[in-house]
Amino acid sequence: MNVTVFGVGYVGLVQAAVLADVGHNVCCVDVDEAKIEGLKKGVIPIFEPGLSDLVLNNHERGRLAFTTDAKEGVDHAELQFIAVGTPPDEDGSADLKYVLAVAGRIAELMEDTKIVIDKSTVPVGTADKVRAHMLGILEERKKELDLYVVSNPEFLKEGSALDDCMRPERIIVGTDSDAVEAKMRELYEPFSRNHDKIMIMDVRSAEFTKYAANCLLATKISFMNEMSNLAERMGVDIEQVRRGIGSDSRIGYKFIYPGCGYGGSCFPKDVQALERSASEIGYEAKILRAVESVNYAQKEKLFEHIQSFYNCDIAGKTFAVWGLSFKPNTDDMREASSRVLLESLWKAGARVQAYDPEAMEEAQRIYGTRDDLTLMGTKEAALHGADGLVIVTEWKSFRVPDFEQLLKELKDRVVFDGRNLYDPERVEALGLAYYGIGRGR
Ligand code: UGA
Repeated sequence: MNVTVFGVGYVGLVQAAVLADVGHNVCCVDVDEAKIEGLKKGVIPIFEPGLSDLVLNNHERGRLAFTTDAKEGVDHAELQFIAVGTPPDEDGSADLKYVLAVAGRIAELMEDTKIVIDKSTVPVGTADKVRAHMLGILEERKKELDLYVVSNPEFLKEGSALDDCMRPERIIVGTDSDAVEAKMRELYEPFSRNHDKIMIMDVRSAEFTKYAANCLLATKISFMNEMSNLAERMGVDIEQVRRGIGSDSRIGYKFIYPGCGYGGSCFPKDVQALERSASEIGYEAKILRAVESVNYAQKEKLFEHIQSFYNCDIAGKTFAVWGLSFKPNTDDMREASSRVLLESLWKAGARVQAYDPEAMEEAQRIYGTRDDLTLMGTKEAALHGADGLVIVTEWKSFRVPDFEQLLKELKDRVVFDGRNLYDPERVEALGLAYYGIGRGR
């Protein structure tokens, strides 16, 4: 099938590449000329394992095209995906200006039936707004054309985006048209072959499903972080508790890892946006508010542990920081806990020697050159001359450190672990002080 995808950000590019890979003819449109020119030459604007090869391969085979010409994109297909950003505006609600701008462009240029598919995470009622906006433009153009707006939220995770997209657990399609349902089934058939993953529902419920999923996952994390704070004060080891409760299949092991807070471009934004939508209709979403406030406090956790170890006197100290991205396998530092930590350390007069396997360029872009930040080429180099080590992201390469080297290099022989990577007893037996999250010590 012919498909057009507006927006070559994370969601758009991954979706486009995966659709092309199963044989669809995909045309990607973006207003960013540099990005589009780069993509044509195989320069991928984001770090995502496997994406570069997939894009190059399908581009070479002629199934994945890139253009800044919206007309080319609109003419290319009946199916028009909108996968542009919905950043929070000042009050936390999702800003729809990019989504509406793309919808408007399609309405200005379309000459036949279009099925517009919202992939972006958008508040309930957006499809109605998109449709009304487009119909207004078609009316001005005096065109009577068939137009359908579908909600088809994306559930991919950064770092495992290709796999999530290739092997989805479910494909949510919000539409009330049988004809559109049939087209969407045909589009996703290669991903739904072994057993039916496609769930058809009404448009508003589909839009809401995306928020409900992300908010529930964020709730699980904040709940565990709250439990870890209690554990810390009650002499309980949250890691033993995690295993104990995860074994209950009604609870499950996923997304119950305590840590130094959730980050990224989705959870913080989506929890806030749903909270905002609730208050707009006069409902106070108490759980969402609590989820957000627990997370806000949790991002300070590592700094609190550091302050406690040093009796609030860290001016002049140097900390090795391992991990800057908001989670492993990405270079994304949006809402990352590392940023809260770094800024608190700097405010208190400490210096940072940081290493991240992928996010070094991003850190450089965000913080530029400053005396109290040195970006180091390896995790070992980050330890040279440091007083203590702080682990913020659970990259695989941090899981088995050379403890002897830690002992030798760290002047104050202390490790602050924001992701509970190590066994406290083992680390302490080696002669290092160890602060985990909720380890009852
Ligand atoms: C999240 C959802 O997991 C995806 O299903 C969704 O499609 C995506 O948002 C989106 O809306 O686009 P993502 O933000 O890429 O995906 O990352 P996650 O793997 O969900 O991690 C989010 C944060 O939660 C990270 O900072 C991670 O460290 C933290 N986390 C995760 C925990 O602290 N504990 C856990 O047990 C799990």
